[in-house]
Amino acid sequence: MNRIRVGIIGTGSISYEHLEAYKKQPDAEIFAICDQQKERAEEVAAKYGVPNVFDNYKEMLDLKELDAVSICTWNYTHADITISALQAGKNILVEKPLAIHVEEAERIQDAAKKAGKIVQVGVVRRFDPNTQMMKQFADGGMFGEFYYAKASYLRRAGNPGGWFADKQKSGGGPLIDIGVHVIDLCWYIMGKPKPVSISANTYHELGNRSNIQNVSFYKAADYDPNQNDVEDLANAIIRFENGASLMVDVSYTLHASKDETAVKLYGTKGGLEVEPELKIITEQHDTMLNILPQTDSPTLDVKQAFAAEIDHFIQCCQTGQTPISSLEDGVQMMRMLNGIYESAEKHQEITLEKQKGASVE
Ligand SMILES: NC(=O)c1ccc[n+]([C@@H]2O[C@H](COP(=O)([O-])OP(=O)(O)OC[C@H]3O[C@@H](n4cnc5c(N)ncnc54)[C@H](O)[C@@H]3O)[C@@H](O)[C@H]2O)c1
Repeated sequence: MNRIRVGIIGTGSISYEHLEAYKKQPDAEIFAICDQQKERAEEVAAKYGVPNVFDNYKEMLDLKELDAVSICTWNYTHADITISALQAGKNILVEKPLAIHVEEAERIQDAAKKAGKIVQVGVVRRFDPNTQMMKQFADGGMFGEFYYAKASYLRRAGNPGGWFADKQKSGGGPLIDIGVHVIDLCWYIMGKPKPVSISANTYHELGNRSNIQNVSFYKAADYDPNQNDVEDLANAIIRFENGASLMVDVSYTLHASKDETAVKLYGTKGGLEVEPELKIITEQHDTMLNILPQTDSPTLDVKQAFAAEIDHFIQCCQTGQTPISSLEDGVQMMRMLNGIYESAEKHQEITLEKQKGASVE
């Protein structure tokens, strides 16, 4: 198979997961990197032995030898950078969320159709080996029809600050940042039913709680606790065309007793908990059974998930196959995320058919 020459745009916190995974991928070569803060890019280049360093992504995209790029920049830059990379003929792995508005996501879709290149969205939890195993079981009918699911990602004090907390740059708070992971996972395992309506709330009650001590949390490379205009908490109920529903709650800050993540799905023949701990729930001989699948890692293994995500991307670049976390899925996810914010703003349920740009599927 042909070796894929990769460039990384944005060398902040999450880029290290990409760099480590590419470094271990025998068919990938980290050929170029770019950060608008050149010193940051140069530091990474020295550490990983990358031959080409840029502070302007357009100049990097001019490299003819470059086959593909990972986009690890601030959310509001994803659309423009992805479109430029498509126009330059590159395959793209873009970090979640795909964009900050449905309209931007649809612009990416148009550009991808013209370019005929791959856009994989970095919803990394889909690639966790346990998720893939449960997805196979679900597609094989083990759980029957999923009619209800719960996606929860609650941080007590975990606002990453900087651009994450600046709505113009991030598109929102915990919903678009961490909620996207768990909503996507439920939706993916449910079989991607079509969302039709959403009722949601957002709250700005506690601020970023940067006063809290003795607890460490993920921070943007340029952490700034003084910037914060995003929600602390969002909750939502999403209804799907097939009658199923998904309940969501996500927070950066909350007076909760502990941080909690939950990805739970309930079907007509059985239930499934992917997080916090892998569990299958069923019934036999008039008895309820909780089954613990025996795997090396019964909980999410982020390193393994990133390695699998990058392996899949390289394979898609080599074969031209559509990624399992496709652009179309990323666009549909943007409709749900924007729909949640729209419902919360209007204090009423909204229908996605009426949401601008929701007519593609
Ligand atoms: N998959 C995951 O689990 C996961 C986890 C964290 C963050 N992310 C996503 O990764 C992206 C980056 O997050 P982060 O935590 O690394 O942020 P960060 O602030 O730590 O790093 C982003 C870097 O991008 C650079 N940058 C911004 N705009 C640029 C541009 N136009 N050209 C070149 N460089 C530019 C910044 O200078 C910075 O160094 C976000 O979209 C975020 O949602 C994903």
